[in-house]
Amino acid sequence: MCGIIGYTGTERVASDILLTGLSGLEYRGYDSAGLSVSGESLMVYKRRGEVSALEAAVPDEGLDGTAGIGHTRWSTHGPPTDENAHPHTDCTESVAVVHNGIIENDQSLRDELEASEHTFESATDTEVIPHLIENALTTGASREEAFREAVSRLDGSYAIAAVFSDSETVYAARHESPLVLGIGDDGHYLASDVPAFIEYTDRVVYLDDGQFARINPAGMVVTDAQGAIVETAIETVAWDPEDAGKSGYDHYMLKEIHEQPRAIRQCLRQRVTELDGDVTIEELASLDCDGPVQFVACGTSYHAACYGAQLLREWDVSAQCFLASEYDAASIPVSDGTLVVGVTQSGETADTMRALRAANRTGATTLALTNTVGSSAVRECDHAMLIRAGPEISVAATKTFASQQVALAMLASVLSETCSAPPVKRLRTLPDQVQWVLDTSNARSIAETYEDADAYFFIGRGYNAPVAREGALKMKEITYKHAEGFAAGELKHGPLAMVSDRTPVFALVTGDATATRTLGNVTEVEARDAPVVAVTDSPADVDQYVDHVLEVPTAGPRLTPILANVQLQLVAYWVANRLGRPIDKPRNLAKSVTVE
Ligand code: F6R
Repeated sequence: MCGIIGYTGTERVASDILLTGLSGLEYRGYDSAGLSVSGESLMVYKRRGEVSALEAAVPDEGLDGTAGIGHTRWSTHGPPTDENAHPHTDCTESVAVVHNGIIENDQSLRDELEASEHTFESATDTEVIPHLIENALTTGASREEAFREAVSRLDGSYAIAAVFSDSETVYAARHESPLVLGIGDDGHYLASDVPAFIEYTDRVVYLDDGQFARINPAGMVVTDAQGAIVETAIETVAWDPEDAGKSGYDHYMLKEIHEQPRAIRQCLRQRVTELDGDVTIEELASLDCDGPVQFVACGTSYHAACYGAQLLREWDVSAQCFLASEYDAASIPVSDGTLVVGVTQSGETADTMRALRAANRTGATTLALTNTVGSSAVRECDHAMLIRAGPEISVAATKTFASQQVALAMLASVLSETCSAPPVKRLRTLPDQVQWVLDTSNARSIAETYEDADAYFFIGRGYNAPVAREGALKMKEITYKHAEGFAAGELKHGPLAMVSDRTPVFALVTGDATATRTLGNVTEVEARDAPVVAVTDSPADVDQYVDHVLEVPTAGPRLTPILANVQLQLVAYWVANRLGRPIDKPRNLAKSVTVE
């Protein structure tokens, strides 16, 4: 998965705009970056490493040209090298191409092109595209026709942008990878995501699968695959450019952890009535579901989905949760009445999209629960509910997890006839309670105490079990240290063998009935000399059993785990900070995983 950007306008130095845009897209991949600006000839710069390496390579005065494309890469075909960085060009260097996605038939196209004397410089699947364009041009096709002809030869998923030498036009196409156009006062943009150009414009057009776009300083034209002009709707995105900056925090992750009260408020706004806690989700007015619910999701979103499924089951709705990569609609009974919910921050995760597409084919009703307006999940599902967390730049998901949990609590109350109002009413006080955790947390000093641990274990029961797994995932991805999360009762069935005085155990001790049983598990690990940190809403009862307490306010058994998770996010952040890890961009990971 990668990020692409294109710009054409009246600004002479397109390279400055492209570099700024690439910084806003780095969360999508950061193992190499490149750009190309159209002048009399094509100027192409690309470097292994982060956008800063590319920035250093581009001359200080910028590149003299008003149209160009850029790319930040997360490798799939070929290792991260200068050669494999995009853009890629044809043999005559008259067209440069950037691409996000996977070309599945690249080998057969490469064989065909090599047989007709095309020379390849990289190991990427993308490089077939400029050579296909070159071929089409030699048959007398116009540049636009050649671009369209090349795209028609591709199997797979793609968002592609191309720029030709001595031209002010950028061409683009989309199939199963995101692409959004931006309409500015001084030019037009295209990108994988809005943060790439939010500094310049908030007016956007989301392309649909199978659509092509042509942008130049005078305007933009969107067409279908046959070239017929398509009417498009211009939307205004509500993101503040400030949202995309760090606002004084050292890392986006810390900023986003601190944005959780606001994110939750936004998620609740105009959905929960002040008086009685009734939930109305306008987007779901036409959702008519009385069958079982299946959740499909990956990673952090999967943990949120497990939480949602538990809530539904408690409220008498049959619900199951599947890892999207393991979901097989053919062997899982899906009927007309089944609702399949894809929980996905980005709305672009390939595994989740594959599962949702499979569900669509079975006739089930599909619902995207996502943070991303105009994402593939929104476009391809029958219904969509936005979690409204605002842009999340750090690779590690934090505020979107909290917003997903809150959105799922609201969704569960809408789908259930037996849901009792009090938990939903309590949602309204949750933002203030999260703020209390942020203001009073001693997570930093606990992180300092245990930064050298061999491993970290997280245990919890019931609604706390997915939160324990999420706590471990966060710790792993940003500290690179061994961490595991378990349902607390499972500890004694194997993992206990790993517990020692060098493996702190974080025990989620909230919720009336399950808390006592989790305390039983605490005594088991203490007997093996493990230091124990309790995350609890009843410190007076728990203090005597543990070494440290991370306190959270009481929000009832269903919502307190959301607060407990904030403490675990902070512990992971401060351990990673002490270890000097690149917190916002952990190695080997990317924000949006658009490959299976
Ligand atoms: C972890 C993390 C990932 C994502 C997963 C799914 O912090 O962010 O585990 O949760 O890749 O991504 P989305 O929610 O975009 O489908």
